[in-house]
Amino acid sequence: MRVLGIETSCDETAAAVVTEAGVVLSDVVRSQVEAHAPYGGVVPEIASRDHARAIVPVIREALARAGMKPGDVDGIAVTSRPGLLGALLVGLSAAKGLSFTTGKPIVGVDHLVGHLLAVFLRRGEAEAEAPVPSYPFIALLASGGHTALYRVDAPRLSAIRELGATRDDAAGEAFDKTAKLLGLGYPGGPVVDRLAATGDASRAKDAVPRSMAHRESLEFSFSGLKAAVMRHVATQGKPPEGQALADLCAAFQASVVGTLVDKAVRAAKVEGVPRIVLAGGVAANRGLRARMAEVCARQKIALFVPSFASCTDNAAMIAYAGALRFAAGEADDLALEPSTKTALPRVTRKGAGLR
Ligand code: KG4
Ligand code: ZN
Repeated sequence: MRVLGIETSCDETAAAVVTEAGVVLSDVVRSQVEAHAPYGGVVPEIASRDHARAIVPVIREALARAGMKPGDVDGIAVTSRPGLLGALLVGLSAAKGLSFTTGKPIVGVDHLVGHLLAVFLRRGEAEAEAPVPSYPFIALLASGGHTALYRVDAPRLSAIRELGATRDDAAGEAFDKTAKLLGLGYPGGPVVDRLAATGDASRAKDAVPRSMAHRESLEFSFSGLKAAVMRHVATQGKPPEGQALADLCAAFQASVVGTLVDKAVRAAKVEGVPRIVLAGGVAANRGLRARMAEVCARQKIALFVPSFASCTDNAAMIAYAGALRFAAGEADDLALEPSTKTALPRVTRKGAGLR
């Protein structure tokens, strides 16, 4: 089965063709980063308009790279939630148009489920034999819009349980907001990651507290970090480029990474599941990858980390999640509607929760 995936939930216009075995036949991602950079974050109206301009060429390119025509696909999978409503509508309209004209079935995919299954994607020879987790596994999803821990018992929405999520900012949002405060541009994650590599966290650790360190809770809170960096900048000024800036980035990153690693490992222990999967844009962070590998090795937990291209937003993960829905005999129809919310049941509410 070859499925065309379409993703427009936030600031990437993406299309891909993937088999139900997760083999990526093509994967096109057109980032809108430059359009949003002057504003330091995603502007919904700009996102919708940019998706509308890009969607047809991006789908054409994904089909061409896979050597296919629209009628050659066995089905169309599209991100229907969660995301920006106007942005989702562009992908949904394109998917419905294609489904209508080709007569191929359509399925909606929850973007978060796509991220959680991205570890199964196979990109080229290099990943053909890469180890994949058995079920159940614990997934740490950390992106610009979401940060949560899940127990994944099977590759379907009803078999995925949220164990705890952030009560305020997502981890990627914390990177982006901190980078903005330090004048490092948008998106902040990659820049902070790069600077942190040359910094010494111990020299700036007093400037950045450890977030939600209570060991029992599987919930996160990152908004205090941004406030701490803001206070630091207000009292001491923005560190100039150089060692002081690198040290502050290292301290900030160490705080976020420490919390993510501790809670993921705790979730594995609580659930009695010695397998952790990383997902989402923040999983591209080199500090997180290194620390997670170190702690998991010590704790005898198997760690599965997708390639960079599978961590950040892409349509291959949507095509794959959709292919599994088709394989299970499921499909939607042209009445499929977008939603700003995930379909996964949530245990943490913003600003409140289990604690
Ligand atoms: O998954 P993603 O591409 O989009 C969302 O669904 O949000 O994640 C984007 C987020 C941004 O906040 C970005 O700053 C962060 O992932 N990010 C990183 C790194 N690369 C991307 N954060 C930390 N370190 C990185 N290397
Ligand atoms: Zn995402």
